[in-house]
Amino acid sequence: MNLKTVFDGLTLENPLLPASGPLVGDLEKLLFMRDEAGCGAVVTKTISTKAPKIPKPCIYSDKHYIMNSELWSEHPLSTWVEDILPAYQKNNDRPLIISVGYSKADMQELIPQLEQFADAFEVSTHYVGTDLNKIKETVETIRSLTDKPFYMKISPHIPDPAAYAKTIKAAGANGVAAINSLGPTMNINLENRAIEYGAEDGFVWTSGPVIKNLALATVYKIKNAEPDLTVIGVGGIAKAEDVLEFLLAGADAVQMLSAALLKGKQLYKKIIDDLPGTLEKYGFASIEAVKSTILEKRVDYKDKLPWLIEEKCIECMLCVKTCPYFAIEFKDRITFDPAKCFSCGLCVSICPTDAIKMDTVGD
Ligand SMILES: Cc1cc2nc3c(=O)[nH]c(=O)nc-3n(C[C@H](O)[C@H](O)[C@H](O)COP(=O)(O)O)c2cc1C
Repeated sequence: MNLKTVFDGLTLENPLLPASGPLVGDLEKLLFMRDEAGCGAVVTKTISTKAPKIPKPCIYSDKHYIMNSELWSEHPLSTWVEDILPAYQKNNDRPLIISVGYSKADMQELIPQLEQFADAFEVSTHYVGTDLNKIKETVETIRSLTDKPFYMKISPHIPDPAAYAKTIKAAGANGVAAINSLGPTMNINLENRAIEYGAEDGFVWTSGPVIKNLALATVYKIKNAEPDLTVIGVGGIAKAEDVLEFLLAGADAVQMLSAALLKGKQLYKKIIDDLPGTLEKYGFASIEAVKSTILEKRVDYKDKLPWLIEEKCIECMLCVKTCPYFAIEFKDRITFDPAKCFSCGLCVSICPTDAIKMDTVGD
């Protein structure tokens, strides 16, 4: 099965990359992503011009999300340029995307020193606010400093992803990495009556499976606004199916971090190994075939009543308990009241055994 994805002159043997963060913060971790995880390209932790003061603790895990107050790389630029990147480039056989941040002035210092090591750049503007004029200036500055491809990483607090896409394309960027973590968010420890995690202001950034649908929508909005931009999807990816969903939404490749913090670093290799079977299961011949598939606008359940596949029903009553319209009852079997049913679809998606169906228009 062909897992290759090609964009901006870069050829990736598979579409999964690590997202910028602690798992790509030094040589050992970059080599892990390349040689053990087998990622199609490797992205670095964001490098900037001044060393940050990172509040500790800085990573918190719940079941479906990660919260963090980590900043950019704790290693100074000189350590990356003199030690980490030269060592990484020995025997390197795949694209390296160097993540840099944040301002126009930072770019003037960073890009010339890092260019010799980079196949492409990813640019975080996470801490520079939402002013598109500032982002435009940063893009123009980078374009004047390098011919290499670069991807502007969009933060979810940017209000209009389509306007962001148009601005950065006009200013010379190759694409967008969408999205950075969501926030500011907060974590309260009830026992300690304390804000346990976070920067000095008490705020943290949230990532992982809970932000997947926001990331998908952002990818979709950007690709629709500017179809010629490369889009790298990131946010909440945790399995091979998620990778295909992002490609259908318009991504050319994807990145993952939080799911590996929740489930373990072996998840990168597992997802890459699972991709051929998952492509086959959903009827795709290759990654490029997923990318070129036009997404159906929407499934239409309008005015339809759910129905039960009795042999699959385990009578757990979850649909009865959760139906917001009081339309499901148990009378020897699950029954749906056509007078009350709103065709909302919750019962179909919540059923743990897939025993409830709703015909779509055209069935
Ligand atoms: C602990 C942690 C550190 C991160 N550091 C960076 C960073 O240095 N630069 C950056 O662009 N994004 C950083 N991110 C954001 C991730 O790259 C990614 O955009 C976000 O977590 C969403 O993807 P995920 O849900 O797969 O984690 C960080 C995220 C976490 C959880």
